[in-house]
Amino acid sequence: MELPLYAIAFAALTSVAVHLLFRQRSSIRQIVGPPSPSWLFGHTLQLRLSPQYGDHEFQWLKQFGSVYRLKTCFGQDQLMVADPLALQYILNGSAFERSGMLNVMVDLIFGEKSVVASKGNEHRRLRAALNVGFTATAVRRYQPIFEKMAETILEQLDNSPAVSTDIFPHLTNATLGAISEALFGTSIKDLGDEFVETSFQTIELSASRFKIKALVDTLGDWLPIRFWRVATHLPTTTFRTIRRGSYLTNQIGRQIVRERLDAARQGLEMNDDLFSLMWNSDVADKISGDDIIAQMRLIFLAGQDTTATTVAFGLLELARNPTFQEKLRAEIQDALGTSAVTYDGMPLLNAFIKETVRLYPALPISDRIAVQDTTIPLADQIITSTGERMSHIPVLKGQHITLCIAAYQRVESRWGTDSHEFNPFRWLDGAEFRTEAVGPYANLLSFFGGPHTCLGWRFAVLQMQVIIFQLVANFSFAQVEGELVQPRFLSNLLPITSSGEKAVPLSITRI
Ligand code: HEM
Repeated sequence: MELPLYAIAFAALTSVAVHLLFRQRSSIRQIVGPPSPSWLFGHTLQLRLSPQYGDHEFQWLKQFGSVYRLKTCFGQDQLMVADPLALQYILNGSAFERSGMLNVMVDLIFGEKSVVASKGNEHRRLRAALNVGFTATAVRRYQPIFEKMAETILEQLDNSPAVSTDIFPHLTNATLGAISEALFGTSIKDLGDEFVETSFQTIELSASRFKIKALVDTLGDWLPIRFWRVATHLPTTTFRTIRRGSYLTNQIGRQIVRERLDAARQGLEMNDDLFSLMWNSDVADKISGDDIIAQMRLIFLAGQDTTATTVAFGLLELARNPTFQEKLRAEIQDALGTSAVTYDGMPLLNAFIKETVRLYPALPISDRIAVQDTTIPLADQIITSTGERMSHIPVLKGQHITLCIAAYQRVESRWGTDSHEFNPFRWLDGAEFRTEAVGPYANLLSFFGGPHTCLGWRFAVLQMQVIIFQLVANFSFAQVEGELVQPRFLSNLLPITSSGEKAVPLSITRI
């Protein structure tokens, strides 16, 4: 969102903020936390705009434990939660919802009829229908498409300079292509350049690092969603991108649905894509063509950058850890010598993916608001500023909390004293955290948990297995001298170079 728009919104909303401040209630004042550096911004800038993600947050985690209190803009209390039981409770129950601008952006970018924006029965209906394309069996059928996409990356890398190649665009094109073909039976070329370009631009939309964005984000949930829906008609670059993206998705979606329906009516053979799987299953009468079109934008955007970013961070770790890279390559070469490759049966490959997903969750934090008074259970007791031990935290309706996904995945009592280090062997020596089952994959919350758990997590894991297998079998990866790439929080966790670009430059050599 552009700076002028934020400035207007900020000016208009300051009076609302001041008014609401006087009504603020908080039941978490006795929870300990760091002193606030400013009334206006609280800890928001330290949390969200630090050069490397976690610079401050991981220190707070060490100092105050897995539940503590921060200040956000205008002196509001925010509960930071990295405790596994508390996270499980918040994600699975109905006492919390997405809050603030996160909620607004989900609604505006993905659409109010998308599965991620929908709630209750409507969410369950859409999710049940879409799930047929994301089961373990369905995802295995997409494997040849993933292998084709991986081969395309290999060809592109053969034509790239060995000394320094940004791997990122190759990965995003492959992940977009995989979604397009596997789920919608359409090649990336048929989507058209404008659609692809607008998808990339949309992903960048909430990636602003202006300080004023922090203020508007705080005020966002005091405005009804209708305000923002009307605002999308304003002639700004942000809203133009949202409008164009949604127009193009509708147009392409309608064409795909029409073609598939015609094929089905003529009795032509259907593919294994999402549409065909739904059409041939007992959910066919529970979902309409319009429902499918309403999910396309979400599915294209949710699975593309997230998977590409995770693989990119993984390759960066391989470049930094050449000994592990050699071991992984040896496992891959052994597998190539067998009659059929079984990705799930490769210990180092899977340990490596889990470790990358653990250290680099696409959404390291996510904001929620209590929609009713409730009590959050804790796995680990905390001691309050008055010396009281608590194993439950009562919170009032309206309390803002942050799900600290990245921090949960680094809590030392769970993941060990080397929890901030890249160590794939933690998944092989039995030291990984096994107690509370939280997310769908390896006790990690990078795909979240509860009813809105990532629908595409199996899709993403298989795709990562295939891409990494092919890349490591054929190329070696080393760091580019003088290039420092760090994880930074923009719209999600992204690899950012010292010159501020979203890129992962690597020295890549054919084996
Ligand atoms: C490493 C890759 C991925 C990561 C880390 C990831 C992470 C997430 C997270 C954290 C959410 C919850 C968002 C929220 O509720 O605020 C989510 C939801 C979702 N993801 Fe993924 N995702 C990945 C790949 C994919 C792929 C490949 C697809 C599909 C092709 C996909 C489709 C979805 C959908 C449809 C939802 C909404 C589910 C619902 O609300 O019921 N994701 N993802």
